[in-house]
Parts: sequence; C-alpha cells; structure tokens
Amino acid sequence: MCAHLTKQIHDTSHITYEGLLEGNKTFVQEALAEDPEFFTKLANGQKPPVLWIGCADSRVPANQITNTNPGEIFVHRNIANVVVHTDMNMLSVLDYAVNVLQVKHVIVVGHYGCGGVLAAMSNKQVGLIDNWLRHIKDVYRFHAKELDGIEDEAKRGDRLVELNVIDGVENLCKTSIVQNAWKNGQELSIHGWVYALNSGEITDLQVSCKSNEHLTQVFRFE
Ligand code: CO
Repeated sequence: MCAHLTKQIHDTSHITYEGLLEGNKTFVQEALAEDPEFFTKLANGQKPPVLWIGCADSRVPANQITNTNPGEIFVHRNIANVVVHTDMNMLSVLDYAVNVLQVKHVIVVGHYGCGGVLAAMSNKQVGLIDNWLRHIKDVYRFHAKELDGIEDEAKRGDRLVELNVIDGVENLCKTSIVQNAWKNGQELSIHGWVYALNSGEITDLQVSCKSNEHLTQVFRFE
C-alpha cells in the first residue's frame, strides 16, 4: 500500500479497563502532591466561568487542550457539537450554566476533520446518527453556494466545520435562556472556536456576541 494512504492512528492498545483505575490512583497522588487541599476545595462546589459545547471526539478534551483543571470548565459534548434549540439535554446544561453557575462565556468548539461533519456532507448512511447530523445538512443547505464552490473536499469539510460552529453560536443567541441573561444585564458572551487535530491549536472564529442586536428581527425576544 502507498505510504500516503496508510494513516498513522494513535495507538490505544495499551489502554485497559483496569488501567483506567490505576490511572486514577496516579491522578489522585499527583494532584495531592501539588496541593493537599485539591479535592477538599473542589468538593465544596464549582464556579466555572466557562461553558464548553464541543464534539464528543476523544481527541478534543476541553481541559487538556486549554491547559485547565477540574472545576474550571463546565462541559457539554455531543457528536459534531450540534447546537439545536429542541435538544433538552443541551438546553438544560445551558440553563444551569447561565442561570445557576452564572458562566461568563459559552464557547462552541468544533474541530477540523470532524467525522460527524464529514458524514453530514456525504450521501452515505452511518446509522441512527444520520438523523442527528441532519442539522448539519441544513447548515450546508443555507451555505450551499459557498460550499459547492470549494472543489477540494477536505477544504469544503473544514469550511462546513466552521459554519456549523457559527450556526451553533447563532442558535445559542436565539435561545430565550441567553437572551434573558442579556436582558437582565448579565455579563455573558457567546463564542465560536475551531480546534485543529493536526497541530493542537485553537482558532477563534471571531464571531463572539454579547447581545441579540445582530439577530434577524423575528429571533429577538423583548
Ligand atoms: Co467531531
């Protein structure tokens, strides 16, 4: 087989069920060595300033890629970081994060090479997930002119990843939860990021919003 067709995939054959529990012991020891009060303080409650809405992909762990610790990011993940206003799971996380935890930032984090987004861009069936990814097909439909104009499939996929994040940001701004927080004068910003698997770097898509003023009239709640 040609070398360029052989994808090198991260070896996980050494990961075992028992190994996870051993790993936990190491984690506890190391955390306590650094701060004997680490778990005592965490057990008293959480006050994370950020809600992260990301992809379930194992390669995009919120804390590790932002160099943060337990207690610092409230996390919601699903396949292809879809933000859709009828998802009770996401809405519950958002409501709790905004109204109880009073987070200051909500960040939708996509990643280039997202299998969910690429599946949504194709005509192949994967399974039940096709119906979840249907939301991304809608994103494609709204931006078909731009996307159809990108010949390179990988580049088209990357752009759809970005547009899916931007759609997620917009959908968050359209929720009554976020708009009520703004109406009540709460400090809250919604952001869109994309993570690059091949470099580990995050790009801020510069679509941050702090008010509903940019929304089409029909989406603005009084
Ligand atoms: Co993904």
